[in-house]
Amino acid sequence: MAEARRSRGRAAGSSGERSPAKLRSKARAILVLSGPNLQLLGRREPSIYGRDTLAVIHARLQAIALERGARVDCRQSNHEGELCDWLGACPSEGFNGVLINAGAYTHTSLALYDAIRAIKLPAVEVHLSNPEAREAYRHESKLAAACLGKVAGFGSNSYALALRALLDHLDAKR
Ligand code: DQA
Repeated sequence: MAEARRSRGRAAGSSGERSPAKLRSKARAILVLSGPNLQLLGRREPSIYGRDTLAVIHARLQAIALERGARVDCRQSNHEGELCDWLGACPSEGFNGVLINAGAYTHTSLALYDAIRAIKLPAVEVHLSNPEAREAYRHESKLAAACLGKVAGFGSNSYALALRALLDHLDAKR
């Protein structure tokens, strides 16, 4: 699988020793999902979505996770069912929260809404653009009501802001 599609990272080394960072990383693991056409970031309508590639965004999230003693697993799919599969499996895979930019599925997918509700984990909806300032058909999010919150309109920085906000939320609950 291409690096932009799927990248995992851990905060602690792989030595097996139980460092504080490793203990903390166990408690805060975030699944980062990006939906259809986001693999094209960097060359897809840069005036709307900017020039950063998804690989660059994922690398930034890995750096933030490292800094915060957390772990992120970043994945992209053009397929609604695969996104549902990943969401459905994430509690048993040990994730504590989800960032999701579902792309156009944001505006259509009852299946993703149901999947987010079903997992009972805090999820943050992410968008590079601000869909509510765009075409009318982007104004409705089917996912928003299942999510803890939303970060939209800050370009590629939306992902970083959303990750920090979700980690703050999880930290406040510990
Ligand atoms: C998007 C906004 C959606 O309306 C659009 O279909 C996308 C990208 C965003 O990140 O701004 O694919 O989710």
